[in-house]
Amino acid sequence: MKNISRQLFRVKDLNSILSEAHDPSRKLKKALGPFDLILFGIGAIVGAGIFTSLGTAVAGDSIRPGAGPAIMLSFVITAIACGFSALCYAELAALVPISGSAYTYSYAAFGELIAWIIGWDLIIEYSIANVAVALSWSSYFVELLRGLGIHLPVWSTIDFRSAMQGFHKASELISSGQTFEQLEPYLQHTWTAVQGAPHIFGIPIICNLPASFIIIALTVILVIGIKESARFNAIMVIFKLLVLGLFVVIGIYYIKPHNWVPFAPNGFAGIRAGAAVVFFAYLGFDAVSTVAEETRNPKRDLPIGIIGSLIACTIIYVIVAIVFTGMVPYSLLNTTFADQKAEPLTVAMKYVNINWAAGIIAFGAVVANTAVLLVSQLGQARIFFAMSRDGLIPAVFSRVHPRFKTPHINTIIIGAFVAFFAAFTNIDEMVDLTNIGTLFAFILVCIGVIILRIKDPHRPRGFKVPFNPLLPLLGVVACIFLMTGLSPITWVRFFLWLIVGLIIYFAYSYRHSLLHHKTHHHQDKNKPDAHSV
Ligand code: ALA
Repeated sequence: MKNISRQLFRVKDLNSILSEAHDPSRKLKKALGPFDLILFGIGAIVGAGIFTSLGTAVAGDSIRPGAGPAIMLSFVITAIACGFSALCYAELAALVPISGSAYTYSYAAFGELIAWIIGWDLIIEYSIANVAVALSWSSYFVELLRGLGIHLPVWSTIDFRSAMQGFHKASELISSGQTFEQLEPYLQHTWTAVQGAPHIFGIPIICNLPASFIIIALTVILVIGIKESARFNAIMVIFKLLVLGLFVVIGIYYIKPHNWVPFAPNGFAGIRAGAAVVFFAYLGFDAVSTVAEETRNPKRDLPIGIIGSLIACTIIYVIVAIVFTGMVPYSLLNTTFADQKAEPLTVAMKYVNINWAAGIIAFGAVVANTAVLLVSQLGQARIFFAMSRDGLIPAVFSRVHPRFKTPHINTIIIGAFVAFFAAFTNIDEMVDLTNIGTLFAFILVCIGVIILRIKDPHRPRGFKVPFNPLLPLLGVVACIFLMTGLSPITWVRFFLWLIVGLIIYFAYSYRHSLLHHKTHHHQDKNKPDAHSV
């Protein structure tokens, strides 16, 4: 029993972690500097959260109260919570500049089982988040095409749950004695999606094809190369910042201060629920740590990239939130369909009749989400790369393409997974699941800082979290606070996900772990040879 628990909590020594990255057959190209990293961070951060989830966070939905104009406070609260975790990420990323990020730090701090749980959990943060971002990408893309007079059939641009929303709303309203005319728009919403959809065994196939398409296209780019990806990312980041700038500059003229009243229509409960939703908007600063092995001077540049990008995005978000809530009355968003709520910034521009800007913003959202997708797909591949190098997942995940020097097979498998789920799932569910999974990872990163300071106090650290252990502990408390703002069904889904992960660990990873082999080999060598006695 004692032996098993020793096996489960076997830790990886920091020296051996650092030396593995020098294996020439599994070495990534070192091409990135501090500026690339900040752009990478902003690339990963500004996306669906501000362009889509903002609507749900302000207005609320069937499972949570909206924050109303007080969403600006939600953004500040979440930024502070993320700030603690960002400092911890910066310390660990500079200490262990390996592409596995939180997964690798946990291997050194807590041992293999927790490292596996984190690696598994990070699939939520990167891949499930990307499902949500692909869906946001799709809704703006479809809007953009509509503006150009191209109408894709509704069944090919929506998920089943969103399609049924009109039907459910109509059923709710029947009991309150509404007339058929009043119900018609809702029924029409569902009917348009179902009618015309291809049927298999009588079941309508309703799926989001543009969301899958974008993932497949980006997978091709990522296979081709890291430097090319960074350049592509930089162009997209500049563009999305310009578009948000345009939104603010135009929006300021249409602010009506009475829209900020009531400031917090659902009190603190709304602000907290809003904070838990907009947490999604901040995800990505930690993705910087996944390109550690491709960074030229990781000890100095990773902290700059992580903290710098978080600060820049906080400023942008608070300004956008102030302008948005000043332009649009809370009551308007409160009564729209989920698919309109998913495009809050264009809704705002249309509300003030600046339709040309709505088109540009839709285009900006498409570009912004493309950048987020690119960085997260890349981050996920790097985490699998590290897990595979440790033997916890099969070796194909760490095979590097001889010419492109990218983990190509790994990237393609992840692309297929995300493209599949993007076709069939609902954005709000995916955002909630991403948030809970990521908050859990952040908690372990904060605790990891405290543990590694105790275990390995003298190792040179390129960056140190001030006031240890106070700040890391505040990080833990802040993450727990945000997690409690998520719905019970999200908690259930998260636990189910972890259970599946544990099954895989005990069925495969425990035995295939390189560390497992090393310990066994070591024990066998130390055993007295029975024959020689
Ligand atoms: N922060 C990223 C976004 O908002 C995940 O799209």
